[in-house]
Amino acid sequence: MKEHFETLDAKTAQAQLGGGEDRIAAQHKKGKLTARERVGLLLDEGSFQEIGQLVTHRSENFGLGDQKFLGDGVVTGYGTIDGRLVYVFSQDFTVLGGSLAEAHAAKICRVMDLALQNGAPVIGLNDSGGARIQEGVVSLAGYADIFYRNVRSSGVVPQISAILGPCAGGAVYSPALTDFVMMVEGSSYMFVTGPNVVKTVTHEVVSSEDLGGASTHASKSGVSHFSAPNELEAISEIRRLVGYMPSNCEEEPPVVPYTAGDDRRPELDSIIPENPNQPYDIREVLNAVIDPDSSMEVHAEFARNMVVGFARMGGRPVGCVANQPAYLAGVLDIDASTKAARFVRFCDAFNIPLLVFVDVPGFLPGTDQEWRGIITHGAKLLYAFSEATVPRITVITRKAYGGAYDVMNSKHIGADMNFAWPSAEIAVMGAKGAAEIIFKNDIAKAKDPAARLLEKEAEYKEQFANPYEAAARGFVDEVIRPSETRRKVLAALDMLRNKVEKLPRKKHGNIPL
Ligand code: HXC
Repeated sequence: MKEHFETLDAKTAQAQLGGGEDRIAAQHKKGKLTARERVGLLLDEGSFQEIGQLVTHRSENFGLGDQKFLGDGVVTGYGTIDGRLVYVFSQDFTVLGGSLAEAHAAKICRVMDLALQNGAPVIGLNDSGGARIQEGVVSLAGYADIFYRNVRSSGVVPQISAILGPCAGGAVYSPALTDFVMMVEGSSYMFVTGPNVVKTVTHEVVSSEDLGGASTHASKSGVSHFSAPNELEAISEIRRLVGYMPSNCEEEPPVVPYTAGDDRRPELDSIIPENPNQPYDIREVLNAVIDPDSSMEVHAEFARNMVVGFARMGGRPVGCVANQPAYLAGVLDIDASTKAARFVRFCDAFNIPLLVFVDVPGFLPGTDQEWRGIITHGAKLLYAFSEATVPRITVITRKAYGGAYDVMNSKHIGADMNFAWPSAEIAVMGAKGAAEIIFKNDIAKAKDPAARLLEKEAEYKEQFANPYEAAARGFVDEVIRPSETRRKVLAALDMLRNKVEKLPRKKHGNIPL
């Protein structure tokens, strides 16, 4: 028996080394942690239980027979974050570049299956050169097995991906199918084809960083939702992110202790500038309304005319969606619509109520947006809100013009409680544009057309650029003082806590992709 224990201890020690001491040192030299160190940081201390530590690949191709490493380049298992069960896989770049083939994929599939059966999130710590070239088609099959499970698990359990090194080829598609992607500045890349292939095919010369670094995917492509300056922060942010979501779609999100205080926020009464064209930062409004220091912004660098993120109200998670007047006047464009639509669908899938702030001058006009399909992409947001059955609350702070009024969680598409501040302007368009169209002849005939335009603009404003016309029809439930917003939203969320709404029976809808 003693012999067996000795063998077991030796194998465990070998597995813990992954690709060996020198390779671990090389990983550290690059400023990167090892796969096991990452798991250790992600999970509560001592909670990790490993599965498949002694698995190896079965290939003899291209000298692989001499390169068998226990675990086959991925550490898999389960543990807890703040006491809650999560499943995890962590790729080991020191073993064959973290490349994925039959055995490596089977280990990941195993934890994904367990996560789905037991209703807990899956967190993937990715660091991989993609499909293991030597193993051929079984590597491709392994990826497809994972993609299939990503899709089957979507909306059932939260799936989160951290990109902690170069991720190429197939290694990027599984993260893309998950709910949230976190990247690390300077050390992580995601691309379907790397700079060399790009140069051969398109003759473009581009660095890895510009092609698929953290900042590129955070601001240009929107592929990543978060970026962190280093691995420690990335992993700690993932722990924080998990705290906003339930373990699966059948559960409610976790509640943190909260002591009620004075919920009036007098500073909001003077936040809207006198001039309706002057910007203000919607984050200031959000921060005043939510529980102090409870926010986690998602996609902060992408489509900055829309702000989305998690927060808490009275200790309970909410998903916030808000137009940002401080960037492009808060206009709705393609990126803002898709960003918000995706976030709304995540919150709806996982029982997180939605809190929406509206200050939107409309959809962005122009050939660029029209030719790239603002019609289809804008419709995604309309679709996402209309299909959401979680409690939904809207606060119109200033402009709610045109189609954008309808889209931004209006009463008409199923919002539960809609509030407006006295500064709200709910109209088909801005007063000047409206006056120019409907009083065109009158203005043209006037002795002083400019003065006549101003007069008509004021007339239109008086009639429509306020919240009372909408409130008279019940499209707005209450016109409130801005300082009362937190109190009103807390009360509404409380009232809606047991909301049950079912969609018509269907296989699935057909969101305009
Ligand atoms: C086998 C691989 C590998 C791979 C890297 N390695 N990628 N082994 N299959 N896909 C090995 C290297 O041979 C090397 O082994 C070790 O990992 C470290 O790699 P380096 O190149 O030295 O590291 P680095 O300079 O940091 O570059 C990392 C990299 C690069 C950018 C990821 O290795 C690379 O471009 N790899 C290939 C990427 C790729 O084309 N993957 C296949 C995509 S096809 P030694 O023994 O020297 O340490 C694909 C199809 C799936 O994924 C499609 C599904 C939809």
